[in-house]
Amino acid sequence: MARIGIIIGSTRPGRKAEVVARWLLDVARKRGDAEYELVDIAEYNLPHLDEPMPPSMGQYSKPHTKAWASKIDSLDGFVFVTPEYNHSTSGVLKNAIDYLYAEWQHKPVGFVSYGGVAAGTRAVQALKPVLAILSMTPTVASVPIPFFGQHLDEQDRFQGTEALNQACVGMFDELKRLDAVLRPARTSA
Ligand SMILES: Cc1cc2nc3c(=O)[nH]c(=O)nc-3n(C[C@H](O)[C@H](O)[C@H](O)COP(=O)(O)O)c2cc1C
Repeated sequence: MARIGIIIGSTRPGRKAEVVARWLLDVARKRGDAEYELVDIAEYNLPHLDEPMPPSMGQYSKPHTKAWASKIDSLDGFVFVTPEYNHSTSGVLKNAIDYLYAEWQHKPVGFVSYGGVAAGTRAVQALKPVLAILSMTPTVASVPIPFFGQHLDEQDRFQGTEALNQACVGMFDELKRLDAVLRPARTSA
């Protein structure tokens, strides 16, 4: 079975990315078609990129880089749960992407974004050229969540809707199709 990482794109104290990601994990695991797991950038304590060699050389020197590379390498595809910060993605997500190279290549990626009226879609648009240079393939179907605060209950849990669940179906179905198509590229790389 494919292993899909749901990457929590914020490390901010009080972040909402984690509750959105936990809801998504719940939706994903009900599908039973892949192994889904949360990947929390906060657990890897990545400073601003501090490797002396470019990631494309694959010569990682720091324990945090090796731990992050090992996790990303072990996964077949991803969903980035991204906030929108100033009409882009978060700095920590961009930094975590920049750390690695080969570990991302030829893997599919879907998106769950959240924000105000634009639902974090500008963050997704900002991510796409970054992912393209890493030979990643984005899904067309994504899950944009406008005014996401309206979905948080008193316990700060995210409450999905039928429309959001349907959007997840489209994104995960496409992720699975892309995984099948990209596998040979990963094997020969
Ligand atoms: C630095 C910063 C910039 C933000 N810029 C935007 C923005 O451009 N568009 C938007 O919809 N929300 C914006 N917001 C509000 C975020 O959608 C909201 O704070 C959200 O909770 C951030 O995700 P997080 O809690 O997972 O970090 C911004 C928040 C921060 C902290």
